[in-house]
Amino acid sequence: MTKGIIISGGWGTRLRPLTCTIPKPLIPIVNKPVIERQILLLRSAGVTEIILAVSVMADVLKNFFKDGKDFGVKIQYTDEKVPMGTAGAIKLAEDFLKDDNFFMLNGDVILNFDFNQMLKIHEKCKGIGLIASKVVEDPSRYGVLIVDNAGRINKFFEKDEYLPPGGKYVPMPINAGVYLLEPDIFKYIEPAKKVSIERDVFPKLANEGNLYNYPILGIWKDIGKPEELLEGNIQLMEEILQGLKGQQRNIIDESLDVDGKALIYPPVTIGKNVIIRKKCEIGPNVIIGDNVYIGDNTKIKETLIYDKAYISKNVKIEKAIISDNCVINDDVELKGNNQNLVILASYVEVLENVSLFAPSNGSITVCHHETIREDIGFF
Ligand code: GTP
Repeated sequence: MTKGIIISGGWGTRLRPLTCTIPKPLIPIVNKPVIERQILLLRSAGVTEIILAVSVMADVLKNFFKDGKDFGVKIQYTDEKVPMGTAGAIKLAEDFLKDDNFFMLNGDVILNFDFNQMLKIHEKCKGIGLIASKVVEDPSRYGVLIVDNAGRINKFFEKDEYLPPGGKYVPMPINAGVYLLEPDIFKYIEPAKKVSIERDVFPKLANEGNLYNYPILGIWKDIGKPEELLEGNIQLMEEILQGLKGQQRNIIDESLDVDGKALIYPPVTIGKNVIIRKKCEIGPNVIIGDNVYIGDNTKIKETLIYDKAYISKNVKIEKAIISDNCVINDDVELKGNNQNLVILASYVEVLENVSLFAPSNGSITVCHHETIREDIGFF
């Protein structure tokens, strides 16, 4: 029976300081951890046995998913003392995966496609691997696939290895970080060594003609960097709302306590037990977690707010990510811009009247448990 492995043991350095307290696989995407969403997609394709290849903050992940029962699947974990690379991580699960083909997912991508269809195509192609791909306008930051008319991948280039003819990048299918693999893949991975599936294994399989392409429909977004995390949340929220065929403009929990004089501009997502006081303006493109308080006359747009944040009155927030348990006091202003955000990690407090404005050349990032007492940025 097809099983699944989700590699979820990287450091997530580009998402620091959010990942100093939240392991990257538990970063919320429209209020659900990114790998919980992946587990639910696997389950809807009939995959009920999943192994999580954990390493960094392994205990936090094990505590969250436990044996998987609450998520309708059986979950086991690998024992990876130090990160072994993307192929080294699955080699440790060889015994669990050796009897049939299996899905392998990078635990940091937002997806919303039918895994069943991918399984059907893999069974037709009969390669050792089928790689889900997405065509992107600018493939320069991704692994690039050169595919023939029959869907075979003739060449696999890892990130930074592809140089386009004439030096100009054009839209190309890129590696979406979701694979269907046969157990023969393990012959290509040396045991007890740090091995990268993208650098060390896929190029060989492509040269041997054993690798196929599966173009995916729907959202694909790698949450490597904070701007991508914000964009990916907004895109998935839009896709979920589109799936409801116009019946809803927002995703709002019924427990919301909102003052009649507050305004909500769609689309927004609001979790459980949120209070929004009078004259607030929330949205568009705001995602709020559970147990959040927002005081009078506060205006928020293009922002992610995680659980248990307390946001006081007369606050303005735009293009920001506010992690769990943050406290934002009266008359604070947090403002990012198109490329750069204001990012507060867990348990940050911003004192009254303070403004944080992201400059044009970098985000403002505040480490967990810090208190910000004075303005930062350009005014
Ligand atoms: P950055 O440090 O910001 O590059 O993030 P990352 O550590 O998550 O690395 P990257 O984005 O390349 O990883 C893609 C996926 O592979 C993520 O889901 C990681 O959790 C996972 N991953 C990367 N390296 C390892 C590893 O050595 N072991 C395990 N188990 N997973 C890994």
